[in-house]
Amino acid sequence: MSFETLLLDVQDGVATITFNRPDKRNAMNPRLHEEMTAALEQLRYDPAARVVVITGAGPAFCAGMDLKEFFTALKSKPAEYDRITRLAVEWRGRTLRYFPKPTVAMINGFCFGGAFSIVEGCDLAIAAEEATFGLSEINFKLFPGGSVSKSLANLLRPRDALWYGMLGRPFDGKKAVEIGFINEAVPLTKLRDETMAVARELAGKDPFALKATKDGYRHSLEMPWDSAMNYSSAKEMELVLQQNDAWRTEGIGDFLKGKYRPGFESHDQAHKVERRTSRARHGG
Ligand code: COA
Repeated sequence: MSFETLLLDVQDGVATITFNRPDKRNAMNPRLHEEMTAALEQLRYDPAARVVVITGAGPAFCAGMDLKEFFTALKSKPAEYDRITRLAVEWRGRTLRYFPKPTVAMINGFCFGGAFSIVEGCDLAIAAEEATFGLSEINFKLFPGGSVSKSLANLLRPRDALWYGMLGRPFDGKKAVEIGFINEAVPLTKLRDETMAVARELAGKDPFALKATKDGYRHSLEMPWDSAMNYSSAKEMELVLQQNDAWRTEGIGDFLKGKYRPGFESHDQAHKVERRTSRARHGG
């Protein structure tokens, strides 16, 4: 499928979705919400995509909702406004959050308003130190609407959520790390290499274990203790079935045979090295 507002590329297990409206600072228009919904559906079932990275073309990651094509143009079309709002909330708030593969936001530049929900919906987030973040809604007499207030409540400390939400002051990548909104910030020139290294590292781990890690974290957040323990036991059995007990037989088994140290490396990474070495030994 070809897209008008996105670029999609899959290489070495890593799918990269690039918002591609640089002239409009990658603001999310209705078409972009429809295409993100379709792109994530496509990647969900693409076996070549083990990890998804989301970034933006040009000087912006994403300037939030398209203030013209969404808020203004749809003012007199309440049904269409509602349809696009539902799509917009769904792909960022639910599809990304519970996506069956790891997701990484690579924030290359401007990141405003509604884009906070993309960052929060992704599992990990790496930004350029030079990137500019802002909850600009207050500056145009709105509040962080749609899913943005919930994203702030999920991720930020109360003082930071209200400070940036009420003052609308911009901040940079380093500050975004300091307040816990993203994982790390690197110079823009190193952003792609650093993000791809993290993505490839994720692609080298067991996909079922990664999914269980996400599910365990995200669902436990909303559960009382007893339900969380019950869920965790059920997840463990699900993993046994999905992997044919590989975490015990291979993961723990190979450690106990002294073949690798999971404290320092993943099982599959260690065993690729072993396979390469044994091929070399046999001239393969
Ligand atoms: N919605 C619609 N269009 C947007 C947009 C948005 N959120 N953000 C930028 N654009 C458009 C501008 O209208 C302009 O279009 P034009 O060339 O047809 O006039 C183009 O993108 C470039 O914007 P400009 O302001 O000239 O770029 P800049 O690099 O100087 O500044 C921003 C970039 C992101 C700081 C600035 O555009 C801005 O403040 N945008 C609004 C961000 C915002 O409040 N988002 C929250 C939405 S929930």
